[in-house]
Amino acid sequence: MKKHTIGVIPGDGIGPEVADEGLKVLSAVAELEGFDYELVEYPYSGQHYLDTGELVPDSAIEEWKGLDAIFLGAIGHPDVEPGLVERSVILGLRFGLDLYVNLRPIKLYSENLGPLKGKGPDDIDFAVVRENTEGLYAQIGGALRENTEDEVALVNGIYTWKGCERAVRYAFELARKRAEQRGADGRAPRVTLVDKSNAIRPHAIWLRALEAVSKDFPEVETDHQYVDAACMWMIKDPDWFDVVVTTNLFGDIITDLGAMLQGGMGIAASGNIHPGKTSMFEPIHGSAPRHAGKKVASPMGAIMAVGMMLDYLGEEKAAQRIDEAAGRLLQDGTIPSLGSRSGIPTDVMGDMVVAALRGEAIPDP
Ligand code: IPM
Ligand code: MG
Repeated sequence: MKKHTIGVIPGDGIGPEVADEGLKVLSAVAELEGFDYELVEYPYSGQHYLDTGELVPDSAIEEWKGLDAIFLGAIGHPDVEPGLVERSVILGLRFGLDLYVNLRPIKLYSENLGPLKGKGPDDIDFAVVRENTEGLYAQIGGALRENTEDEVALVNGIYTWKGCERAVRYAFELARKRAEQRGADGRAPRVTLVDKSNAIRPHAIWLRALEAVSKDFPEVETDHQYVDAACMWMIKDPDWFDVVVTTNLFGDIITDLGAMLQGGMGIAASGNIHPGKTSMFEPIHGSAPRHAGKKVASPMGAIMAVGMMLDYLGEEKAAQRIDEAAGRLLQDGTIPSLGSRSGIPTDVMGDMVVAALRGEAIPDP
């Protein structure tokens, strides 16, 4: 039996609380499915930086390359310069491990979780493939004469053929896989490219990548939207989408919108993936410092991220079990909403998922 070695970075704010619940569910599902794993914890966070002055050292990135996966809670501390630790840990992982896909499923489990009138689980079930190592996140640029009237700020969007091609290819492969899972009666697979190639002409590289890769996937429909229109269509006709592929920044933005469609930041999960290499899984929410320590944060995003991680590690049945157990609790209203309004303490929500997994009585909130 293969043993999975998983790095854990609990992080800041609500990160450690939600990560604990994710690990609770991991332990329960490992017992049910009979797989083995080992956890290696890492301290990198805003708090660790304040305590020691240390950010993520190059040696940690090297060490992570030897793990099977990494599970991250949340990073960000109000007393640290904005973005410093996020760039070190989150972007450090994405760039350092070349995790070129940020996969963000958008799935509404129950109509009453979502904000759109009349839209239910049949209408909202798609996935965003966000390019994760280039674009405006490449950190190529800088500032000159800062804090003067003559200040110049420069940021370059980087789009390589290799970077676009591999993200687009991943999207097509995912569309094919999702169609297989839907079966013969399900709808046809579709990849929608979201860019801004009308105003930002170099974005046309994405269109060329779409066209080139689509030749290898004749059964997959292709479609193209500018990002402003995509925001409109995500609200107006979310059922149109199957797999979306887009740039790093646009993916960041439209997946917060997507998180709202599925019931909020309390459930949205993501995988930072390089097929075959150490990949990293995290809820998409931040560290929400003002909610920390109060047991009001929803652990569902972290739990769903564990599900995605297990799917990536080849434990598909375990991943499916988590999806079904969480889905049941959301569909039957046991968990009526995600976030502080639910009235269910963080740890109790984790216990509920564990009970649902085991087929035991669900604890009271
Ligand atoms: C996300 C976050 C990060 C991003 C931040 C924390 C750097 O918003 O994972 O979506 O911009 O990618
Ligand atoms: Mg974001």
